[in-house]
Amino acid sequence: MSHAAVGAAGDILEYLATHERKSLLRFITCGSVDDGKSTLIGRLLYDTKLVYEDQLNALKADSKKFGTQGERIDFALLVDGLAAEREQGITIDVAYRFFSTEKRKFIVADTPGHEQYTRNMATGASTADLAVILIDARQGVLTQTRRHSYICSLLGIRNIVVAVNKMDIVGYSRETFEKIEAEYRAFAAQLGFASIVCLPISALEGDNILTKSPNTPWHRGPALLPYLETVEVASDLEAKPFRLPVQWVNRPNLDFRGFSGTIASGVVAVGEEVVALPSGKRSRVRSIVLGADTQDVAGPHEAITLCLSDEIDISRGDMICAGKAPAEQTDQFAAHLLWMNEEEMIPGRQYYLKTATKTVSATITDLKHRVNVNTLERQAGKTLALNEIGLCNLSTSAPIVFDPYKENRGTGAFILIDRRTNTTVGAGMIEFSLRRAQNVHWQDLDIHKEARASAKHQRPCVLWFTGLSGSGKSTIANLVEKRLHDMGRHTYTLDGDNIRHGLNKDLGFTDADRVENIRRVAETARLMVDAGLIVLVSFISPFASERRMARELLEDGEFLEVWISTPLSICEKRDVKGLYAKARRGEIKNFTGISSDYEPPTDADLEFDTSKIAAEHAAEQIVEYLDRRGYLGR
Ligand code: ADX
Repeated sequence: MSHAAVGAAGDILEYLATHERKSLLRFITCGSVDDGKSTLIGRLLYDTKLVYEDQLNALKADSKKFGTQGERIDFALLVDGLAAEREQGITIDVAYRFFSTEKRKFIVADTPGHEQYTRNMATGASTADLAVILIDARQGVLTQTRRHSYICSLLGIRNIVVAVNKMDIVGYSRETFEKIEAEYRAFAAQLGFASIVCLPISALEGDNILTKSPNTPWHRGPALLPYLETVEVASDLEAKPFRLPVQWVNRPNLDFRGFSGTIASGVVAVGEEVVALPSGKRSRVRSIVLGADTQDVAGPHEAITLCLSDEIDISRGDMICAGKAPAEQTDQFAAHLLWMNEEEMIPGRQYYLKTATKTVSATITDLKHRVNVNTLERQAGKTLALNEIGLCNLSTSAPIVFDPYKENRGTGAFILIDRRTNTTVGAGMIEFSLRRAQNVHWQDLDIHKEARASAKHQRPCVLWFTGLSGSGKSTIANLVEKRLHDMGRHTYTLDGDNIRHGLNKDLGFTDADRVENIRRVAETARLMVDAGLIVLVSFISPFASERRMARELLEDGEFLEVWISTPLSICEKRDVKGLYAKARRGEIKNFTGISSDYEPPTDADLEFDTSKIAAEHAAEQIVEYLDRRGYLGR
């Protein structure tokens, strides 16, 4: 019996359960707009009688209304589910469809062809075993073809079907087909696929879809569906070492303690030794609970609860691994990053990094190179724009447990999330841990911050002055430092203009340079706090993300944000350095307040507007504030 269904994740599980005995092929289709992807999938479903009657009737009605095929059925409408797609004539999200034949069951991720939706394609590719890459016979190999093939290889797809479509329009020309095949194979040779099969098809006419077409007698290969039904893509997930990301600790009563999650890879059996990471504690499997039953063995994708023979400490976010082959841990690693956001990637900025097990803070410390997806050449660059791919070094706030992506797609992938907007901005594939992460350790020192601070009889802290150029930050910071100095306190001032003459001489005023500017000064301020000083930082520091990063580098109560909120109009009127006038004339680019953003603080500890309060008065209030809160000691 044949089945077809189009639906959500819940349906997929139900569907899989009823077809458990047949092997499963997960594949994706990719191609450019108008290559005929949706028509192809529609054709597969239709020709194999996988379409339900009611869908068919709706399809006939829709074909007349929206179709591009006159009175004939427009198969693309069968697949293009979203209303927006119909209106725009493009596919805009990943749609998972599932169907089965006598021989096999299939999940197909239909991914968008429009250039700006490359990220959705990556989403579909990350779980696929095979990709069907469509090429319009009239167009040949396009930028999109190369981009999609590269992403497929990066995301670990090993088997490729190149479907050269619309062969009917080119008169089933063998020459056209062979030229495209040769060009594709030459390009893909660098990508290391295990198999590439090229097929001349017409999705519209049904050539070489279910059976071999008489229109292409010269084609020696198979038709598409028989190939998909038989291709060997043995998923080796079972053969990989056991990995269980712990989603929650299940403790209904004192007698039971289990660790629940979905097995990412490998097989586990009762009695086997496992190791919990990051702690490294070892134990043996006492029982495996699956639903209401216990079983002796469990494998990939099964949602289990694992009980161990010893009471070892394991929390949500840890990973339970095969004792003989544990995963790695690191806080610095190299990874391929696919950038998915309109706002470009900024090295030095903190993002959230989410792996199979947990979420930590992370920064991109270095972009090693960008990849030109057309030529696969490596290019130097400082940042990644939307849809660009590069090899980066990243550093995380806490160690993560991982496997290299090439070895394990489930435990080697991560996403990056913007901390302010909570949107996913990048997808990453971990290559390897940086050796320095293993070889650089913390050196224990006998004299600590507390000792240094108490010798100075003060509580060290950072007074972080932020505000527009000309707002009065440096003037006030200078007055505060003078007062503190007169009181015998130990201080230091880090001023933007001064630091930019030395430590940060290499930085300009692009967003990326400002982020790095603040990162360095925040690290410097932290060292000075460690030395026991009261540190005054006077930098425009226009971005909320980096001020937050500075706050998080320090301990609670050590970071005091002072917002000098003098309005732009006043700062511009003062124009002490003549910079605003230059910026207005267009002689200075990226000038804060004019051609570059200032994000006002929302939770500053202190705020002063120097158009309303004299600098001396503000300084006095700051010193009083410090005194009241015990920073100034005795
Ligand atoms: S920040 O934005 O990266 O924090 P920072 O405080 O170091 O800036 O430097 C700001 C100072 O650099 C200003 O006071 C001004 O004198 C000078 N400057 C030169 N070009 C610019 C610019 N494009 N935007 C802002 N300040 C500039």
